[in-house]
Amino acid sequence: MTDVVSLYPWKRPQHLDSAHNRLLIDGVDAVELVERHGSPLFVYSESRLRENAWDILGNFRRVHANTRVCFASKACANLAVLKVFKDCGLDLEVNSGGEFYKAQIAGFAPAQMVFNGVAKQVHELREVIGAGIKAINVDSLSELTRILAVATELGRQARVSLRIIPEIQGGAAAGWQTGTSASKFGMTAAEQSQAIELILAQPEALKLVGVHAHIGTQITDIAVYQAEAQFLIDYVRQVAERLPYPLEHLNLGGGFPKNYSSAEANFDSVAPHYRSNYRTQVDFAQLAEQLIKPVSQALGEQIELIVEPGRSMVSDAAILLTRIEAHKQRQGRPVFYLDAGYSVLFDLYNGWYFHMLNASRAEDRDTHLCRMAGPLCDSSDTYYDIEGEGAVADLIAEEPKLAEHRAVLERVLVHQPNLRELPAATALGDVIALLDVGAYALEMMSQYCGRQSAAAVLVDLQQGSRLIRRRGEYRDLLAHDLD
Ligand SMILES: Cc1ncc(COP(=O)(O)O)c(C=O)c1O
Repeated sequence: MTDVVSLYPWKRPQHLDSAHNRLLIDGVDAVELVERHGSPLFVYSESRLRENAWDILGNFRRVHANTRVCFASKACANLAVLKVFKDCGLDLEVNSGGEFYKAQIAGFAPAQMVFNGVAKQVHELREVIGAGIKAINVDSLSELTRILAVATELGRQARVSLRIIPEIQGGAAAGWQTGTSASKFGMTAAEQSQAIELILAQPEALKLVGVHAHIGTQITDIAVYQAEAQFLIDYVRQVAERLPYPLEHLNLGGGFPKNYSSAEANFDSVAPHYRSNYRTQVDFAQLAEQLIKPVSQALGEQIELIVEPGRSMVSDAAILLTRIEAHKQRQGRPVFYLDAGYSVLFDLYNGWYFHMLNASRAEDRDTHLCRMAGPLCDSSDTYYDIEGEGAVADLIAEEPKLAEHRAVLERVLVHQPNLRELPAATALGDVIALLDVGAYALEMMSQYCGRQSAAAVLVDLQQGSRLIRRRGEYRDLLAHDLD
């Protein structure tokens, strides 16, 4: 078994294709985009954003008409992307005063937004309560006390929803599992019980409008959603019994998964744990049946169901184009250095896998195996898991008997396949495309090592392609410094 995800097939009808050996995104030549706008360059597809929005709205509202899809703007708060989603009829989830501010500039009304976070600041609470936000998802008793104080000061009633810990584990990576009391999120049932008492004692300042849960990201196991549905049905019934008014909504959170390659066959020859994180059968149609429908049938048509998808709305709507700037030969294999590393694509640092192809030689069938690295000055800036590989080697060196358990160690410690299959003719100056980079990328870019943040274009339905984020410039490096 080699740890190489197969390059082919990579095409996606109507979205990713090739002509004259070049990658096309929605019919636009990727290499020409780099020639025009420079590298690295994110390319978002308007048609894919719209398809994702219609897909979730259509499927979820088919089984429960009173469903509100609040896009988790932390996954991509670019103004152009937010405006596309607004136009499609999505509402919004925000996680800070900053996201709330940006959302209003994009045209979202406070009554369309829910506000999450574990450490909400007083000024943020003043802003959202003052504006009349749809709901604040309360994460702790201390936060509820703070909300009460702010609402009292403003003479307003704050609309709150309580984030419950369902004690369900789900999500691709340990740090991304948020549904148990081992995580930093949410309240236990006992804490919520006290919270309800406080809310009922302060009807002028607080109204309990909902219950909220969010159990992780990239949850590829449908059984996790079934368990979530069952838990929340029971929990909402218990809460409803204590309230003198009906609960307005149940918020099921986000975490819905997307595929990170074009086909199951890409993962045929790699260890199963790579495949289970990056390939999934779970789609919006299945979620409608297994999550939304049971909740709807149990709790009735009246209650509003809210979901907060982030990754699943945007990940497959963008690619990252990055040029090869240098190469070497190491341990008998080529190593190629790209102009984009984890300062451009932060999830790389988290050990995330992104399928990679050569946009300049998109149809070449003669391939070889190579290692890919980013431009930054530390070893973890690689498109393979150098930390995990090193940890396995160190453990076996310390305790040779562990060699018998190499497969288990690799499953736990190594998150990315170690080699990439690319055309044998791959050379300096070629444009490499990373697929499915639309989520948590623009928002998490940094200027580490004095590098400029990448630009982004939208291939839109009317104008061809247009810049939706300007490239960073040297002067941006001075923007916050005072001497
Ligand atoms: C409360 C909450 N809702 C929704 C999301 C979106 O999750 P995803 O991008 O996995 O759909 C997150 C992600 O961090 C979250 O914390």
